[in-house]
Amino acid sequence: MSHKPLPGFRDFYPEQFAERAHIFDTWRRVVRRYAFQEYDGPPLEPLELYTQKSGEEIVTQLYNFVDKGERAVAMRPEMTPTFARMVGAKAQTLRKPVRWFSLPQLFRYERTQKGRLREHYQLNVDLVGEADVLADAELLSVALEIMRAFGLTAADVRARVSDRRLLNGLLTHLAIAEPAWPAVYTVLDKLERQPRELSAEKLAEAGLDDEAATAVLGFGALDFATMRARYGDAPAVQPHVARFAEYLAHCDALGVADWIRFDLTIVRGLAYYTGIVFELFDQVGEFRAICGGGRYDNLLKSLGGADLPALGFGMGDVVIGELLRARGLMPPTPSTVAIWVAQSPDTPDAPHAALRTAAALRGAGCTTEFALRVQKLDKQLESGRKAGAGTFVIVDPGMGDAPWRVRRTGNDDVIFSSLDALCAWASSNGTVR
Ligand code: HAM
Repeated sequence: MSHKPLPGFRDFYPEQFAERAHIFDTWRRVVRRYAFQEYDGPPLEPLELYTQKSGEEIVTQLYNFVDKGERAVAMRPEMTPTFARMVGAKAQTLRKPVRWFSLPQLFRYERTQKGRLREHYQLNVDLVGEADVLADAELLSVALEIMRAFGLTAADVRARVSDRRLLNGLLTHLAIAEPAWPAVYTVLDKLERQPRELSAEKLAEAGLDDEAATAVLGFGALDFATMRARYGDAPAVQPHVARFAEYLAHCDALGVADWIRFDLTIVRGLAYYTGIVFELFDQVGEFRAICGGGRYDNLLKSLGGADLPALGFGMGDVVIGELLRARGLMPPTPSTVAIWVAQSPDTPDAPHAALRTAAALRGAGCTTEFALRVQKLDKQLESGRKAGAGTFVIVDPGMGDAPWRVRRTGNDDVIFSSLDALCAWASSNGTVR
């Protein structure tokens, strides 16, 4: 029997669990500040929820099987279809815009590599019921505010942003026929990683003439101003450029403009995106995408629900964890114990005076531990130090009116004569974690 988990799956020992808790706590803290509500759905869903809507790549990565009731099911590889189904089912009664978030564990049978595992936790933040580009700016600002809350800056992380409508407008303007668009998307998606000749070949295969192919191959280098100067007056492009400019102005007012780069190579693999799309990457280019999302205005309707515009993003715990560790921004594992109670076995009522003290401290909300066997006082204190306790309460009923001695490194001992006074002091002196 192997002692290892399955490839691509993780054990969370307390140190790793503390890192995960730091990531989850930061996610929740920021997203709640933006007035999003938490929800969850089933980890197992009907297979067809994904085969219809998620797009080919995810479908090849599904953990799916037939259950004992002969149903074709899959472990959720992403949250968006579940979210769309849940909102769709109650669309009439929900206050719009819907602002919901979730922290699901997701499962994808991927090739395991740095930043990509077969399970991960993914913060999902989604908005439903608002078609205005202001909602797109609000959404991106959530993702970037999370980066800030982790201690990252615009020098560490870049949001690469594009717009499918704008891209489609450009392809229309270049007279590229619609059936060729998926091939163009694939080339753009791989533009940075694939040799230029191969990209050119793929475009030629898709039926693009030299002029159109050269234009597409140049998309990767276009900043917004250059793209606007070159194509902004074309009727197929103009409204989308205007909308994107508005989006950038909103992002600026929300204080996140510094983090953003217009980048037409951001296509997003998932089939349902319809508008502004984005991915967050570290500036060095060392890690996989930290986060990805965008607008998907047709998904709710196509799942049989209401016709409501929607947008959202997913941010995994794996890459953000790698990045925080690499930049020295992952906090050390916090100690689990704040107060260690000890009592010499040679004092009256040992060890029960210590146990009564610990019970009272715990009742006052303090994280309290003591040795689980009767030991010499020095041994007990040594165990407390090893556990990381910062405060020691030494109980000695033999000391008459003042049997509680509080010891903290670098401070004089403080003597307490009542348990109530000790508890009041302990709960207001930062010893509770
Ligand atoms: P996605 O781009 O497939 O989007 O995933 C979003 C993020 O989840 C990625 O940027 C990455 O951080 C993380 N991630 C994805 N796959 C793995 C993996 N195998 N191992 C570790 N981390 C991974 C979606 O899933 C969309 N449903 C997001 C969304 C929500 N769009 C709208 N709302």
